[in-house]
Amino acid sequence: MTLHSATSAAPGKVILAGEHFAVYGRPAIALPLLAVSTQVTVQPAANDQLDAALGEGDLARARTLVQLARARVPGWADQPVHVRVDGSVPVGMGLGSSAAFAVALTRSLSLAAGLRWGPEAVREVAHALERSVHGDPSGLDDTVIAYGAPVLFRRGALPEPIAAGAPFELVLASVGYAGSTYEAVAGVRRLADARPAWFEGVLAEATDQVAGAADAFRRGDAQALGPRLNALHHLLSAVGVSCPDLDRLVDAARGAGALGAKLVGAGCGGFMLALAEPGRRAAVAQALRESGGSPVLEMVLEPRETSA
Ligand code: PMV
Repeated sequence: MTLHSATSAAPGKVILAGEHFAVYGRPAIALPLLAVSTQVTVQPAANDQLDAALGEGDLARARTLVQLARARVPGWADQPVHVRVDGSVPVGMGLGSSAAFAVALTRSLSLAAGLRWGPEAVREVAHALERSVHGDPSGLDDTVIAYGAPVLFRRGALPEPIAAGAPFELVLASVGYAGSTYEAVAGVRRLADARPAWFEGVLAEATDQVAGAADAFRRGDAQALGPRLNALHHLLSAVGVSCPDLDRLVDAARGAGALGAKLVGAGCGGFMLALAEPGRRAAVAQALRESGGSPVLEMVLEPRETSA
């Protein structure tokens, strides 16, 4: 098999509904975040080399991922590779930086080997890479990023594409520091083990809210979607993954007229998301900046972004 050079890019992601509960097999809705992306170029080389603007710990992890990916993409097992990473997905902030790297790396290696892998083949390898970073991830991140389109996700099942019925105006804001996904997931697990009956109730309520959110999303009904997001933030707080800074931003967004707001991703730091009324995105973004959110990202999810 002749190996060439190849480049591909993968977006970030944001979880609209269902994070943490997805670990327990409950449904979740995830959206690609096209405002940021990670680009990976691979080229056969004499030794493995990695060019990436990362700190030492992240570089060491990325090198391990390159080894794992080489072992899984036909043609690369015995061929060292030069990997160059360029990107704008903030690392460790719940926007899917590790999955974006895993997907772009896998896709580039497969393209360079002349393989025409679809999203499911790319996702499978990227998921194996994610497992080595996160322990036991649900697969939400690698799925939405490999498909590059909004998905209704359930652990262990093929993702269902989900189309927005109208444009949705979203604002993302960070508290400025990262939470640990590993710690947050472990903390929820401790609660689930300590109070199983209560936790079953939480999962049932989360499942209902995500189903309602999916319905509102498909209908393009922002007025109905907002309260679902608020209810999910309440449930995420109940399982211990919010923090005062996230709560402050969520309150600020609601105070500025957002229809709903919640933390996104693992929590205990990182980003929150607000759903604005059509045309009101800038006011919500301004309130989030004034409350210390940084960075603040605005996005309009167009219905056309919803086909794979
Ligand atoms: O690590 P993050 O912030 O992208 O969030 C991961 C989503 C969780 O539901 C918390 C964990 C998972 O594996 O689904």
